[in-house]
Amino acid sequence: MRLLVCGGAGFIGSNFVRQRVSGHGDEVVVLDKLTYAGRRENLRDVEHEFVHGAIEDAGAVARAIEGADAVVNFAAETHVDRSIAEPDAFVMTHAMGTFVLLEAARERGLRYVQVSTDEVYGSIEEGSFTEDSPLRPSSPYSATKTGGDLLVQSYTHTYGMETVICRGSNNYGPNQYPEKLIPLMILNALHGDRLPVYGDGQQVRNWIHVSDFAAGIGHVLAHGKAGEVYNVGGPDEAPNLEVVERIIELTGADPGLIEYVEDRPGHDRRYSLASEKVRALGWEAQVRFAEGLEQTVAWYRENAWWWEPIRSGAYREYYERQYGRALG
Ligand code: NAD
Ligand code: DAU
Repeated sequence: MRLLVCGGAGFIGSNFVRQRVSGHGDEVVVLDKLTYAGRRENLRDVEHEFVHGAIEDAGAVARAIEGADAVVNFAAETHVDRSIAEPDAFVMTHAMGTFVLLEAARERGLRYVQVSTDEVYGSIEEGSFTEDSPLRPSSPYSATKTGGDLLVQSYTHTYGMETVICRGSNNYGPNQYPEKLIPLMILNALHGDRLPVYGDGQQVRNWIHVSDFAAGIGHVLAHGKAGEVYNVGGPDEAPNLEVVERIIELTGADPGLIEYVEDRPGHDRRYSLASEKVRALGWEAQVRFAEGLEQTVAWYRENAWWWEPIRSGAYREYYERQYGRALG
């Protein structure tokens, strides 16, 4: 199969591309705008073609889609805190970008997979969201992702286009940009920097290792029924504070580094996904959180080449703006 993978230079996209090329022998063209989160280094050990461009740029999409059998769209602005501070790019990429890609795929009769998120359902105190749960997004990030999903569904409903949507829970693992909870806490712990916990730290996330989410998307690409949504959730959930305490144990950091900071506006309390539908396609998560977190800490310890340029670059300014203090 020849796949167009949009956003393939990011965290999940690059892990997916590696699986498809090494595990399935697919040919992959990556189309990526290379925002702060997109890095060619993420794909340095994987054979692929690369087109530098945005999904909202019809010319770049036309060049990249040439000869493709299917499109998998990971391209997105992905950090909730940034969507609260500066929502503009979220609207452009998730609404206009999804539209331009859908048009290009529709003209060519291609199968299309939209990578989406559990955040479109909003927060749930008890139980788990199914694919039929109502959509109640809370942040500009999740609202624009929801808009993208609805547009995708309209292309199946209206034009009969072959689309599938894959909604994942919180991913963690190698190559995740350190603005997100787990890599931020690991790197801060390794450097003796303070560990900023939002609010009371009792918000719960449903953690999935990136290799499991990438495999779930592969299953949906191959076996998902056109027009359907598939939740792909992880096997374990944990409150944030417990995750931070576990990272302190694994890194040997000082527990006194924990600092409770102002909560995220509109913060969702808990996410949880029911994933029976994708399991019925033959997918099963392989990595339990305890084991995956240990491997992830080891990966960040051993791959300073990957994160040093981030920690010494524009990330410092972002960090200062977001947390009101400099990295140590
Ligand atoms: P990421 O921020 O690491 O990577 C996003 C990639 O998209 C980057 O390479 C970036 O350069 C590229 N990109 C951004 N805007 C673009 C545009 N307009 N045109 C082309 N490329 C563009 O994100 P990630 O964590 O790998 O997330 C990938 C996808 O998975 C997103 O759609 C996200 O909503 C979804 N998702 C993420 C998680 C998670 O926990 N990280 C969970 C569920 C779903
Ligand atoms: O649920 C899937 C979503 O998971 C994806 O769609 C998003 O792209 C991805 O960013 C992630 O969103 P979250 O907001 O859940 O992830 P984040 O890593 O930003 O935060 C996880 C939890 O940790 C959340 O409750 C906020 C909290 N947190 C986060 C940071 C960065 C802190 O307490 N302190 C922090 O410094």
